[in-house]
Amino acid sequence: MVLKKKGLEGKRISCDDYTLVDFLEFESNDLFEVADYFWEYMLDAARRKYLVYGQPMMSGPKAEFKVYDRNTNSVRKFLNFCSYNYLGYSFHPEVVKAVQATINEFGTGAVSAPLLSGYSNPVKKLEEELAKLKGKESAIVFSTGYVTNLGILSALLKPGDTAVLDILSHASIYDGVRLSGADIKVFAHNNPQHLDKVLNGLKTKRNIVCVEGVYSMDGDLSNLPEIIPVCKKHKAKILVDEAHASLVFGKKGGGVAEHFGLEDEVDISIGTFSKSFGAIGGYAAASEKLIAFFRFFTRSYIFSCAMAPHTAVGILKVLEIFNKDKSRKEKLWENTHYMHAKLKEAGLDIGSTKSQVVPVMAGNDLRLREISKRIQEKGLYTGVVTYPAVSKNKTRLRLSVSSMHTKEQIDKCIRILAEVFDSMADWKPGQ
Ligand SMILES: Cc1ncc(COP(=O)(O)O)c(C=O)c1O
Repeated sequence: MVLKKKGLEGKRISCDDYTLVDFLEFESNDLFEVADYFWEYMLDAARRKYLVYGQPMMSGPKAEFKVYDRNTNSVRKFLNFCSYNYLGYSFHPEVVKAVQATINEFGTGAVSAPLLSGYSNPVKKLEEELAKLKGKESAIVFSTGYVTNLGILSALLKPGDTAVLDILSHASIYDGVRLSGADIKVFAHNNPQHLDKVLNGLKTKRNIVCVEGVYSMDGDLSNLPEIIPVCKKHKAKILVDEAHASLVFGKKGGGVAEHFGLEDEVDISIGTFSKSFGAIGGYAAASEKLIAFFRFFTRSYIFSCAMAPHTAVGILKVLEIFNKDKSRKEKLWENTHYMHAKLKEAGLDIGSTKSQVVPVMAGNDLRLREISKRIQEKGLYTGVVTYPAVSKNKTRLRLSVSSMHTKEQIDKCIRILAEVFDSMADWKPGQ
C-alpha cells in the first residue's frame, strides 16, 4: 500500500491501514511531508497502545530491568529478553571497576580521530588481543559494528566489483556495499548450490562473499563448511560477520568459523562489542597488510572519533575474565538449550535457531503489534522485529537468552508467550 497525499489531506491516518514500510514508499513533492503523515500514524499507534518501540530504560540491562512504559505512563519492572548482554559482562564488578579507574586516568572520551591523537594504548592492546581471539595476524577497532561493515566494504570495493551476500545479511553489510558502488548479488539463505550458481554467472573479476556467523534475526548458523569451498572454487574472498557469535561459539570464543575449525579460511572476520562483550564498538580482524590498508583508507575510521579508552579497558577485562573462566558461556548454553526445548514444548514456532538468538514467529505486522502490546502488558520485554529488519510479513519476537537468566525467569517468559499466543487464536485486526 503506497501512501499518497492525494485524498488524504485533513484525514486522520489509522495505524490499522499502514505499516512502517508504507512510509519508505511515500510519494510527495515536499521532502518533509512524509514526517507529517508519519506523525499522524504514530499518534494513532500511541492512542491504541501499539507504540512499544524506543521506551527509555530506567535501569541497566540485567535479567530484569525498569522501563518507562508509555502506555501506562509509569516506570515498570520487566523481564528482559531483549538486550544482547548474553554473558552479563556489562555488570561484572571487575569490568566496572576497571572502567571506572580508566576514566580517572584518561577522562570520558578519546576526543580525536584514531590517526590523529585518538588511538589510545588501551585500544592498541585491545586490537592485539582481538587478533589472538580471531586467530588472525592483526585487528582494527571501530566505534560501532555498523560502521565497521560500512567502512571495510566501502574501502575495499569499487564500481565494477561484486559482493555476493547471503540474502539475510545485516543492513550494515548491504549499506557498506551500496556505499562502494559495487554490484550487490544475493544468494538464497545458507544455500551453497545457489551461491555456486550466482558466482558462476558473474562477469566481474574481484568478488567477495559476505555471511554472518550467527544470523541476527534467525539465530541459525552460517553453513561455512559448504559455503567456503564454493568461495574458494570461484576465488571469491570471504567476509564473516561474527557479531552474535563471538564469545558464544568456538572453544576460545572466536565465533562460528572457529566452531567449524575454519578460521584460517576466512579472509575478514567482523564483529561488534555491543553483544557478548557488553560494551560498544566494532572490529575487523584479517592479515596484517589488510588491516594496515584499512587504517588509512576506511573513511568511517579516519573521519570519526576513536573508541573511548575506558570502553577498550572494559572489553580487555571481559577478555581476561573470559579466557580464565568459561562458566558464563556454559550457563548461557544451558539456558539456551532449555529455552529452545521449552518453547517447542509450548508449541511456538522458533524457526531454525541454533543459538541464544531465538525468534518466535508472529505473522504479519498487525498481529505482531497486538502480540507485543499484550506481552508488555504482562511484563515481558523482547525484540519486536518487523520490516526492514526482516522480510515483509515475516515478523517475530526476538528473544535474547542470557547467562544472567534463571530457570524461573525463562519459565515465566515462556508462560507469558504461551498465554499471549493462545489468546490470539480468535483475534482479528481492528478489534
Ligand atoms: C550481524 C550484525 N552486524 C553488525 C551489527 C551492528 O553492530 P553495532 O550494534 O555494534 O553497530 C549488528 C547489530 O545488531 C549485527 O547483528
